Amino acid sequence: MRKWETSAGATLALIFALFAHPVGAQESSLTPARQKELIYLLRQDCGSCHGLTLEGGLGPTLLPKDLADKSEEWLREVILNGIPETAMPPWRSLLAEPEVDWLVKMMKRGVPDAK
Ligand code: HEC
Repeated sequence: MRKWETSAGATLALIFALFAHPVGAQESSLTPARQKELIYLLRQDCGSCHGLTLEGGLGPTLLPKDLADKSEEWLREVILNGIPETAMPPWRSLLAEPEVDWLVKMMKRGVPDAK
């Protein structure tokens, strides 16, 4: 009887683990909460230089039409390492590489409102 209870518990835990995770998993491994934080960061922190709607300010516009001819690989390098001798800072210490990959995809597609 005890044994049955244990394995039923383990099965439930496994089912929970399988279904609790993959919200937005086809997009990336980032949790929805982290994705929300990153969008907020893009609007607020990047936006402080690139404009709150990313239409440009001190830094150039980051809208999809303006990024179309720039490779994801190049954008990723720029964000991770910054652009030396300009105001564009490196984000390597604040953002993990998968987070930067995800941000680049969002920027290419058009960033949703940060709410
Ligand atoms: C302190 C101001 C500042 C902040 C904050 C900032 N940037 Fe920049 N960024 C710049 C400037 C200035 C340039 C242009 C540098 C140059 O002259 O090439 C730039 C360039 C870029 C470019 C290259 C665009 C192009 O078409 O040449 C990308 C991509 C970029 N920034 C992304 C980001 C992202 C993503 C963030 C937030 C994680 C961010 N930046 C935060 C100032 C900033």
